[in-house]
Amino acid sequence: MSVKHIALIGFMGAGKTTCGKILAEKLGLDFIDTDDYVEKSEGMSVAELFERHSERYFRDLEAAALRDALAHVEPHVIACGGGIVTLPANVAALQKRALIVSLTMEPEQALARFGDFASRPLLATAKSSDEIFSLMKARDILYKATADFSISTDRRSAVSVVEAIIDHLEETAHACVHED
Ligand code: S3P
Repeated sequence: MSVKHIALIGFMGAGKTTCGKILAEKLGLDFIDTDDYVEKSEGMSVAELFERHSERYFRDLEAAALRDALAHVEPHVIACGGGIVTLPANVAALQKRALIVSLTMEPEQALARFGDFASRPLLATAKSSDEIFSLMKARDILYKATADFSISTDRRSAVSVVEAIIDHLEETAHACVHED
């Protein structure tokens, strides 16, 4: 029996990396961001990986990054790329080894939060905001089905989102172990 990791999932811009770093610090755990892990191991940005190779190529690397992260014996906070839930094998691995928190946001808030579109190929190549909203809607179904619980990030600071996550974790402390 060992302690589970804490994985943050959710759409681009939901604050997985920012909140993940704060959460890891507050809990005294190590932090891994799957995008960052892939970029460091490949020496290329996510945008370059999509452009020079393909989304499929990136997804394989992302799946390998998730496997490496989940393989740690010590619990980690893992910020997952927004598309990690698109591969059923990723979802199964997450559900086995992590407590999964979905960070949600209203679509109206999303556009303002995306920041630099160029670093996020799925946003950069979208033809309209409606296309982005459709992707958000489709993804929301996957995030809900995957997560143990969801936390809204609307009109809240990252610190307050993290506090809400910790409150929830404390209430459900018994859920933080898994059988091998
Ligand atoms: C993606 C989300 C991005 C990154 C890639 C694809 C997605 O991560 O993995 O651009 O499919 O939603 P963030 O959610 O950290 O921006």
